[in-house]
Amino acid sequence: MNADERLPEHVARNRAHWDATADKWVASGERFWAQDEPTWGIWGVPESELHLLPDELEGRDVIELGCGTAYVSAWLARRGARPVGIDNSAKQLETARRLQAQHRLEFPLHLGNAEATPFPDASFDVAISEYGAAIWCDPYLWVPEAARLLRPGGELIFLGNGVLQMLTVPDLLTDGPSTDRLLRDQFGMHRFEWPDDDSVEFHISHGDMIRLLRGNGFEVIDLIEIQAPADATTSFEYTSPEWGRRWPSEEVWKTRKVR
Ligand SMILES: C[S@@+](CC[C@H](N)C(=O)[O-])C[C@H]1O[C@@H](n2cnc3c(N)ncnc32)[C@H](O)[C@@H]1O
Repeated sequence: MNADERLPEHVARNRAHWDATADKWVASGERFWAQDEPTWGIWGVPESELHLLPDELEGRDVIELGCGTAYVSAWLARRGARPVGIDNSAKQLETARRLQAQHRLEFPLHLGNAEATPFPDASFDVAISEYGAAIWCDPYLWVPEAARLLRPGGELIFLGNGVLQMLTVPDLLTDGPSTDRLLRDQFGMHRFEWPDDDSVEFHISHGDMIRLLRGNGFEVIDLIEIQAPADATTSFEYTSPEWGRRWPSEEVWKTRKVR
């Protein structure tokens, strides 16, 4: 039996997908590693505007769940944190390791599933995900896992697609970006698969997310719905700057573990 057969079905599929597409993310990984100021999401909104990160990072243990090329961890390491990255794709981690060597910035990187990590209970102060576990892992598995990993008072911060984005984007990329019509139900939204793609994503409604977070001991500090800047452009086909000016194509959850 190979290692993939022991993975849950969606994790094995996403591993194959990310290993096959990792080459496409090398150039953006290189660009983001070279930046000092973090910028977030597809619109590249600067940290100075979004205030996504905790004020104090010096000496704090951070886990990046679905780190990809690990540029978020690099930004945090430069701000004094002690990051650890976990990702499901060996190919993505290959790029991350090469960029670590190039920038002389080493921190641990693990190959694994962010829904079931090998780390001890209460071993991190911050858990973060930008389009990693936030959209590729089942929230009913990865949010409890993040709660287990965090110390009391620890922060869980994650950025992914907005709910309206997921309800208005056509099934096929060839049918264009998100529309001004609701194309699918909100009730029951959870697992998403696309006819022209082999990957599996997860997106749940705001009400379900609040109940899930509270049920796992988190309080919600903020839900930031990101608006595309006036001069925004994007190479992603699933949304457009015009749409992103009117509706939140992305959102950030900032939460704290209170029990
Ligand atoms: C879009 S990248 C996120 C990294 C980076 N912030 C970015 O936006 O490029 C998505 C990453 O999630 C990883 N991923 C998917 N499923 C995962 C899982 N179950 N556990 C850990 N990582 C996972 C993929 O391998 C991929 O590297």
